[in-house]
Amino acid sequence: MKQRWVIRQPPSLALPSLVLLLLFFFYILFNIRVKSLFLASPTNHSITPTKTPHTETKFNILIGILTRPDNYDRRHLLRLIYGIQSSSTAQIDVKFVFCNLTKPEQRALVALEILRFNDIIILDCVENMNNGKTHAYFSSLPHILPRHYDYVMKADDDVFIRLEALSSSLKPLPRQDLYYGFVIPCNSMNPFVDYMSGMGFLLSWDLVEWIGKSEIPANYTFGPEDKMVGKWLKMGNKARNRFSNKPGMYDYPGTNGRCSHELIPETVAVHRLKRRDQWMHVLEFFNVTKQLNHSKLYHL
Ligand SMILES: *[C@@H]1O[C@H](CO)[C@@H](O)[C@H](O)[C@H]1NC(C)=O
Ligand SMILES: *[C@@H]1O[C@H](CO)[C@@H](O)[C@H](O)[C@H]1NC(C)=O
Ligand SMILES: *[C@@H]1O[C@H](CO)[C@@H](O)[C@H](O)[C@H]1NC(C)=O
Ligand SMILES: *[C@@H]1O[C@H](CO)[C@@H](O)[C@H](O)[C@H]1NC(C)=O
Ligand SMILES: *[C@@H]1O[C@H](CO)[C@@H](O)[C@H](O)[C@H]1NC(C)=O
Repeated sequence: MKQRWVIRQPPSLALPSLVLLLLFFFYILFNIRVKSLFLASPTNHSITPTKTPHTETKFNILIGILTRPDNYDRRHLLRLIYGIQSSSTAQIDVKFVFCNLTKPEQRALVALEILRFNDIIILDCVENMNNGKTHAYFSSLPHILPRHYDYVMKADDDVFIRLEALSSSLKPLPRQDLYYGFVIPCNSMNPFVDYMSGMGFLLSWDLVEWIGKSEIPANYTFGPEDKMVGKWLKMGNKARNRFSNKPGMYDYPGTNGRCSHELIPETVAVHRLKRRDQWMHVLEFFNVTKQLNHSKLYHL
């Protein structure tokens, strides 16, 4: 059930002779198996469990939570949620991302937030969901960030992400040409068809740079933001490494048909947390506040 392997699409042009040589070798040893490989789709026939290639240093992730300037309460909650988490394998920065401010009140309050937390990115766009905000986000990062990250995630503001689980699931995966998330449709287990849900998907840095440079994304910015990302990658023949993290990512129980299931211990992300009671259920299930020590200063 749980996908614990990387499905790697072979490069279409690179190393053709090596591939042929290997296939010939396997042909001799495993005649039948090789026949089935040739019969399979030429783009996604090999499934290779990978060992852990990167153990040395922590890799780094930028999580950009796309939200709106006026969602002050949600940012407050999310700062607490992510501020008390950490990861043993990755260095993770969480930022809130929105388009141009429109009101004097926002200019004052957001300025206070930036002074206090320095975790806000304001893109040059008019606030929208499916009219190019996601493109503005990825394409501007290489120009505005002071550093590069191994991975960049786009997340909604109604998703709870468990940072340790996220980073351990990424640890054995390629750092290049990677597209990670929850593949749509809900019951699909094939990340090479369609796209990753906008709840939270992640791209390796080379793909972020490609989005900023290629004509393809720039020409197709209008439409459901998550679907468009899948379209760009397909048109550009990108993201040969894909990983759909099911059942670790899902919609909150009962909120979205087959995209929903019960909370499970091996969760990476739960989406569609719209109401306070849903957040409370999730915090309780994952023992988020259990780390609190007893003190004479408070009693809960
Ligand atoms: C990958 O293989 C599946 C069958 O396992 C097939 O349905 C799908 O179309 C293939 N995807 C590509 C991109 O070839
Ligand atoms: C966003 O704000 C900047 C700075 O005020 C301005 O130059 C830019 O034109 C605005 N962008 C949009 C899309 O309104
Ligand atoms: C993008 O749009 C421009 C202008 O319409 C066109 O010349 C170019 O061929 C398009 N590129 C792609 C990759 O669709
Ligand atoms: C939460 O804590 C309880 C009691 O210690 C434990 O049984 C349960 O497995 C924990 N849940 C998770 C998701 O770690
Ligand atoms: C709780 O107490 C333990 C032991 O004194 C300490 O190591 C830990 O940091 C404390 N946790 C918090 C959240 O203060």
